[in-house]
Amino acid sequence: MSTSQKVVVVTGASQGIGAEVVKAFRKLDYRVVATSRTIKPSDDPNILTVAGDIGDPATAQRVISEGVARFGRIDTLVNNAGIFIGKPFTENTTEDYNAVMNVNMAGFFYITKLAIAEMEKHASGHVVTVTGSISNGISGAHMTLAAMTKGGLNAATRTLAIEYAKQGIRVNAVAPGVTKTPMHPVEYHDMLGGFHPLGRMGEASEVASAIVFLDSAEFITGEILHVDGGQSAGR
Ligand SMILES: NC(=O)c1ccc[n+]([C@@H]2O[C@H](COP(=O)([O-])OP(=O)(O)OC[C@H]3O[C@@H](n4cnc5c(N)ncnc54)[C@H](OP(=O)(O)O)[C@@H]3O)[C@@H](O)[C@H]2O)c1
Repeated sequence: MSTSQKVVVVTGASQGIGAEVVKAFRKLDYRVVATSRTIKPSDDPNILTVAGDIGDPATAQRVISEGVARFGRIDTLVNNAGIFIGKPFTENTTEDYNAVMNVNMAGFFYITKLAIAEMEKHASGHVVTVTGSISNGISGAHMTLAAMTKGGLNAATRTLAIEYAKQGIRVNAVAPGVTKTPMHPVEYHDMLGGFHPLGRMGEASEVASAIVFLDSAEFITGEILHVDGGQSAGR
């Protein structure tokens, strides 16, 4: 087995942004470990799929250990799995809270620990997390549950970048605006496009391009790169 090809782990890889990230890294000839609950085996021998709930530490363990067993190393982790529950804050239930924390937070925590431990063995690596351009509220949108997690992930991106810089491991985030994926029914696209100064929703491929850029940008760490049509700049 050749270990010269780089290896990327992508969570939430079955659809939407994650599926585009898999395609973008395959174009660069990376080997890919793709995970989500419903992901199916791939015909491509350079894609290993591992099915499981990303909030379960056993899934994280299987993804990293099966990835290393098959491809020999982990160079990049893309923490992309995430869910959005857009209810008014007072209507969120304990089940809603637990569901969002399970995917967005526990799903980051378990696999990032294991991936960084693997990267430390060869003193290089890159973790990039898909957060969200939600640090400011949008009138009429219900985003607080998501903002709690994505804001925490943006903060963890910066602290991890500092903590592991000397070990040669970079840590970045991409913060998308509202992006065309199965997360948003087509009938809302025109309205959602209006949230962005550029007047449209983002494409999943545009988020994937930013992730691939950060992966190649050897002097960038601790960065939150907004791919949001200007939303974070103001409206
Ligand atoms: N689309 C947007 O407007 C937007 C904006 C800002 C940020 N984001 C972020 O971008 C990321 C990707 O979003 P997307 O729009 O591509 O969403 P999506 O189309 O709904 O895809 C979500 C992915 O996460 C996986 N997933 C969900 N729950 C999971 C679980 N418990 N365990 C493992 N995998 C799970 C899903 O696969 P399975 O169902 O197979 O598990 C799927 O592959 C998320 O972190 C999201 O918060 C999206």
